Amino acid sequence: MALPARVRIVEVGPRDGLQNESVRVATPDKIRLVDRLADAGHTHIEVSAFVSPRWVPQMDDAEAVFSGITRRPGVRYTALVPNRTGLDRALGAGVSEVAVFAAASETFSQRNINASIEASLATYAEVCSAAAAAGLPVRGYLSTCFGCPFEGPVPPARVAELAARLVGMGVYEVALSDTIGVAHPAQIREVLEATQPGVPVEKLALHLHDTRGTALVNVYAGLLDGIATFDSSAGGLGGCPYAPGASGNLATEDLVYLLDGLGIETGVQLDGVLTASRGIEPLIGHDLPSRVYQAARARAASGR
Ligand code: HMG
Ligand code: MG
Repeated sequence: MALPARVRIVEVGPRDGLQNESVRVATPDKIRLVDRLADAGHTHIEVSAFVSPRWVPQMDDAEAVFSGITRRPGVRYTALVPNRTGLDRALGAGVSEVAVFAAASETFSQRNINASIEASLATYAEVCSAAAAAGLPVRGYLSTCFGCPFEGPVPPARVAELAARLVGMGVYEVALSDTIGVAHPAQIREVLEATQPGVPVEKLALHLHDTRGTALVNVYAGLLDGIATFDSSAGGLGGCPYAPGASGNLATEDLVYLLDGLGIETGVQLDGVLTASRGIEPLIGHDLPSRVYQAARARAASGR
């Protein structure tokens, strides 16, 4: 199959990245990160999460971040919402879109949102209809599609069923998520094949974590199967506080480098992402894992 001519990148660094950093990043620095990511050409930025501040204290300034960013025309500024309270907060903050987040394995659902899969879907159906009434698009995440940190393998048929139910309640796209970075290309194909009879490929995205270094090759497998939306985070920031061992998301720099090399348009400029990453790295207390970022940094240090 031909590769897509254009790919949409959903930048999740300010949310999925920063939610998992042990060092607290100050609100003005988060705002600067979001604005720099927009400068880099991103059109879809997940800014924060309107979740319980007791569960994820790193996201407790969601309102302040939204009120501080400079909104660019054509950019969607989005946030996670776990329930109606989250949606109301998101509406108050003027988000362009919200995302609900279900899981394909029961134990992860309980640990992440303190609810069974069924109970979460009932909540999300309400969130979807209230968002539709407010004219707000809803994206859906489905965690643990390729493996669960507590239960191990997850049947692709279960992923397919849940993805179709999310679409049935009105999400415009389901991000099939490799929460703990265990997927490999054969599994990407298997899950996409299982899912597609119920959900057209245009409504599927891949949200990959790079724990085992397979994220990029999984992108390539996804491209071969017609996936044209990928999530990534600047510098490879990221993880999940309720998934032991989950490390950073696929790095935006690594994704853009691959897609540029393949001649696939993204609208995102690598230099701009590197600038955003350079700004955040000194604030998180460790090196950013992106290989392309590290190569650029080494090159700059050597003066070549
Ligand atoms: P709970 O404790 O069962 O909820 O948490 P509750 O309804 O009993 O409420 C408890 C307290 O939280 C109450 O306050 C509520 O008002 C408050 P109190 O009366 O005790 O003072 N509350 C809220 N406050 C602010 N905003 C809200 C909200 N909701 C309730 N929206 C809940 C249930 C879902 C709220 C909680 O478990 C939660 O917030 N979980 C979020 C966990 C999270 O953010 N995980 C990381 C994101 S998911 C992820 O990273 C995966 C992804 O990247 C894809 C992948 O890689 O797999 C998306
Ligand atoms: Mg994630």
